[in-house]
Amino acid sequence: MALLKSNKVFSCLGNITPSLGVLSARNSSWWGGVQMGPPDPILGVSEAFKKDTNPKKMNLGVGAYRDDQGKPFVLSCVRKAEALIAAKQLDKEYLPIGGLGDFTKACAQLALGTDNEVLKSGRNITVQTISGTGSLRIGANFLSRFHGGPTDVYLPKPSWGNHTPIFRDAGMQLKAYRYYDPSTCGFDFSGALEDISKIPEQSVILLHACAHNPTGVDPRPEQWKEISDIVKKRNLLVFFDMAYQGFASGDIDRDAWAVRYFIEQGHNILLSQSFAKNMGLYGERVGGFTVVCKDNEEAKRVESQLKILIRPIYSNPPMNGARIATTILNTPDLRSLWLEEVHGMANRIIKMREQLSAGLKKHGSSHNWQHVIDQIGMFCFTGLKPEQVERLTKEFSVYMTKDGRISMAGVSSGNVGYLAEAIHAVSK
Ligand SMILES: Cc1ncc(COP(=O)(O)O)c(C=O)c1O
Repeated sequence: MALLKSNKVFSCLGNITPSLGVLSARNSSWWGGVQMGPPDPILGVSEAFKKDTNPKKMNLGVGAYRDDQGKPFVLSCVRKAEALIAAKQLDKEYLPIGGLGDFTKACAQLALGTDNEVLKSGRNITVQTISGTGSLRIGANFLSRFHGGPTDVYLPKPSWGNHTPIFRDAGMQLKAYRYYDPSTCGFDFSGALEDISKIPEQSVILLHACAHNPTGVDPRPEQWKEISDIVKKRNLLVFFDMAYQGFASGDIDRDAWAVRYFIEQGHNILLSQSFAKNMGLYGERVGGFTVVCKDNEEAKRVESQLKILIRPIYSNPPMNGARIATTILNTPDLRSLWLEEVHGMANRIIKMREQLSAGLKKHGSSHNWQHVIDQIGMFCFTGLKPEQVERLTKEFSVYMTKDGRISMAGVSSGNVGYLAEAIHAVSK
């Protein structure tokens, strides 16, 4: 800039006087056609919350765990793992394209179970990813490039808001199957089976492994069994999204039951994992993407292509969070502490569900709030209508997404009574 402003430079260039035309060309915009996009539906809620001065305000939009004082929670096992890592004075060299080897091994073991036949025969490939979102996107890109069948992916209706743009941006076509029944605030089992039985063969079906987001509604084991049968009959390719292992029931094995059952039944699944919620490693961006293959030779070929796919996107994943997760998973004391802490987080949420439901009853609500207790995981799909949600925000400073979803993780002993009172006021 300084050079271009200097007269000397212009004289060197043959005394060119900058004409208005040149200047306006320089100032002209390349992006005149770019329209203002809508704010993110969840992060937009947080922005509005920040501006609110009501001391009783509650942010139940974002899905991040809070302790009973409403504060962000760093697990003790994470703090201890960080101290162990810091003491080792490790280097900061690049990780391999597929991530930290010890991490991917431990990550697959956590999901599939250490004794899983798939791991013993080496017919899986697991790469480290940029948390669950990055895992889903690598999976979507892989499907888009290599899946020989239809490029349709069937999502439950509703599904996590980011599933649609993740698959759409990777070039897949979005379709849906019935999942949530608003009349019961529960699982629409017969609707789901009916829709799944009509999905064209070889299409991709996305299943939430546990703690379905946004509804908190999961199939029961006997329902999973029927889903597995019908998916097999239709010859569908299953993509499991497991963002909440341990967070639903407090038990990592119980929450991985559906994934392990499908594998046992012969489904060669794709699997996305996130350590954002169950280890509280949100901003560290730790996740894994697994492809279960026919045999080890197929897994090797898939691995080579995953590397080719990842390399031009981010070259290799970040190391810090993967080191923390690996240290926790592979150090017996820390692993036990982690399991206790996961249990503690899940239990606190379950307790808040019970207190919210009891509070609504105490205020004299005549509605049936059993679904608040029956739903599982971080979210509760309240069944509140958009106009009731609007009143909750305007009159009570309770912030949530328009679909009536509340993050139970933002509810505490201190504010559950206020929330019950507010919900009753807008729903009576
Ligand atoms: C269903 C589901 N999948 C995946 C993710 C991915 O989250 P992250 O990218 O933070 O791991 C989330 C996070 O809210 C989720 O709810």
